[in-house]
Amino acid sequence: MGVFRVGLKKVVDDSYDIQIGAGLAPVLVEDLKNGLVPGVSRYAVVTDSNVAPLYGEAICDGLRAAGLSAELFTIPAGEKSKVRAVKEQLEDALLEKGFRRDSCVVAVGGGVVSDLAGFMAGTFGRGVPFLNFATTLLAAADASVGGKTAVDTPLATNLIGLIYQPKKVYIDIEAWKTLPHRQMVSGMAETIKHACMADADFFAFLEQHMDEIYAFDPTVCMHVAETNAHIKYQVVMQDERETGMREILNLGHTVGRALETASGYSLFHGEAVAVGLMAQAKLGVRYGFMTQEEADRVEALLRKAGLPVRLPEGMNVEELVRKLYTDKKVRGGRLRFVFQKGIGEMMTFGENSYARPVSEEDARAVLEALQ
Ligand code: GLY
Repeated sequence: MGVFRVGLKKVVDDSYDIQIGAGLAPVLVEDLKNGLVPGVSRYAVVTDSNVAPLYGEAICDGLRAAGLSAELFTIPAGEKSKVRAVKEQLEDALLEKGFRRDSCVVAVGGGVVSDLAGFMAGTFGRGVPFLNFATTLLAAADASVGGKTAVDTPLATNLIGLIYQPKKVYIDIEAWKTLPHRQMVSGMAETIKHACMADADFFAFLEQHMDEIYAFDPTVCMHVAETNAHIKYQVVMQDERETGMREILNLGHTVGRALETASGYSLFHGEAVAVGLMAQAKLGVRYGFMTQEEADRVEALLRKAGLPVRLPEGMNVEELVRKLYTDKKVRGGRLRFVFQKGIGEMMTFGENSYARPVSEEDARAVLEALQ
């Protein structure tokens, strides 16, 4: 019996630009008109019911006016759309409209749209290119950059997905003005996470400039968008596939994701992450990774941003503890958390090791303290 080797070593360049500014829809249209993504004959603009009238329709019309073939696909707004069933509906809608492998997906919206549309692009016709036009602070800070695409399942968030990089990301700070305040506040959690993780000066900046952010001061918002993007892509460039360092982006997400699912998505992602940041800060004080004063600063900044710092009333701690075990950092049945080191740095626990086991008793105690 012969053995044949299929040699498929690859050098891949998935580099892409992130453009940050105010009013970037015409830039996206111009880029596509100028052939940013070669070999494409049709553009599927995927958006949600909130963003369609604000940006989705205009981008689709702009592409058509530029002589490109574009169709708009609108999903219901909200985390509940980030599921396999909606992905399937979207795929069928594209197929019905004649979209095939010569398509490009343009995701216009926040994290739900970019995660879902990016995942769909990664599997549609075995992979077609996609772009992210991020309209929310949460997408600007996190979801639009990094290539993680996914859908949620009843068990937990983001369990089914791909790492599939966009061809370009547009972060439009002008769009933040259209966000309901609660969405803007939710986006601040990922921003505060970045500051806790990697930039003490940025943390101090946020302490001083929260009001200007919420008043959409353009200089302050540009700084927030640029710093977020910088912190995120620096990590992604070093560990795209989360074999080590990328785990630090999970700061606050061990409890955050569990809480988001356990709340039935009544808590926004950022709101749940804010409570998760508090949980790791409290544990961090207990383990000697940060001082009580530093943890108090984290709490004060989250409060200043208008984010929750305690579990919602009536939250069942035991259910939450059970949910913690759906976390991707669990190893050998043990919970693992990542921790900030003081403010602006992350703890490491050996070579290429960023997470530390946490006993169920410690996790339960900290959740009870957050009630
Ligand atoms: N798309 C978000 C990430 O890759 O982290």
